[in-house]
Amino acid sequence: MAITTTVGNRSQRVSNFENEGLVELGLTTQGIICNGNMKSWQFNRKFLTHSIMSPNFLKDFVQETQSLFNEMGNYWSNLGTDFQIDLAQWMYRFTTDTMLKSTTGKPFYSVLSYYNTLAPTKIKVPGLMTIEPEEFLALITNWLTMVMYFLFFSNLIRHYIPGFRQFTQKLLAKNEQLDEKVLTIIEERRKDIESSSETPLQNDILTSLLIANTSRDTNSSSNDEALKPLTNNEIRQIMLDVFIAGIDTVFQLSREDVIGGLKFKPGTMFCANQQGIHRSTQYWKDPEKFIPERFVKGSEFEAKNLEKNAYNPFGGGLRLCPGRHVAMAELKVLIVLLFGKYDVQLANPKSPLKYSLVALNQCNELKVLIRPKTN
Ligand code: HEM
Repeated sequence: MAITTTVGNRSQRVSNFENEGLVELGLTTQGIICNGNMKSWQFNRKFLTHSIMSPNFLKDFVQETQSLFNEMGNYWSNLGTDFQIDLAQWMYRFTTDTMLKSTTGKPFYSVLSYYNTLAPTKIKVPGLMTIEPEEFLALITNWLTMVMYFLFFSNLIRHYIPGFRQFTQKLLAKNEQLDEKVLTIIEERRKDIESSSETPLQNDILTSLLIANTSRDTNSSSNDEALKPLTNNEIRQIMLDVFIAGIDTVFQLSREDVIGGLKFKPGTMFCANQQGIHRSTQYWKDPEKFIPERFVKGSEFEAKNLEKNAYNPFGGGLRLCPGRHVAMAELKVLIVLLFGKYDVQLANPKSPLKYSLVALNQCNELKVLIRPKTN
């Protein structure tokens, strides 16, 4: 993985896309994931990192993950004791609920709403919801489709070719609905904070972003220009980034460079082929086999003396995933609880995994047989 470059170093890897579709969506100057404006990216990323790296946030997040898992376990036992579930669908809702709760501070109930589609007797959703879960999930999917579509189809196709033009309008209209819903959540929480003297305030991301650089911020930073509070629109884009959480390890050359012996012009875009690296026999023994023990220290399958960057799920450098600790905390809690409490077997061990690529690889269906452990 050591590719020689004449001027390249990590500091070159600062900007993301300068794609005209993303420019039209306003994404290259907002939020974090696609933001290519160094100053605004740094400003936004600083607040998000500050919030999600705090020990209190992580502590609450782990507790929330545990309590939602127990709730999901109750739903499963209502459905039977030895039965088949689509784990991909449950997990999609589960991670949505944990992320939405830790982002907005309010419960989201998409696990419950999914249970209600399967159970003969429905459970009433407690409390009032600003957003109906399935509708919100559809709007998030629309956002992802819209971004990929704007990324790959030219302005001419998007706005002038019949059929495509209507599709573009539909995507944008739904995106406006998503924006409105997220702004409503922000305004509601802003009012809650202003009208209460609640201390200490909740540890969710929205609260941290709303109070940053205000008199309620106990960690106010004294350095630099980032002394102004964030606007509703700035907060909206950060929250959307967290709901979607980017995984594009992309970088653009700011000046001419020779990489791996070849000369590249400024502006050339590079995208690391992580999937290729993670499945390369050059770095991994039997890369196509599912051998989790390769990550266990001391195991006979342990992958030893790995080359730098042979395992790089969260990217690297300046744009390294800021949510990596949150993601790992959730995965560890989930794995321990799921396999500690249940016997889980693939319902159809011979059938291939059903997955699709919409910006990210996502598993669409994973039927498993699940039975509570007795001891
Ligand atoms: C297993 C789960 C996750 C994986 C595999 C993952 C992976 C990645 C990768 C590969 C990148 C691109 C890094 C680069 O360009 O070098 C990234 C960026 C990002 N991720 Fe994650 N991520 C995960 C979860 C999360 C979570 C839970 C959050 C939020 C709490 C998050 C927020 C972000 C953001 C905001 C960026 C953009 C960073 C920037 O451009 O400065 N990710 N992620």
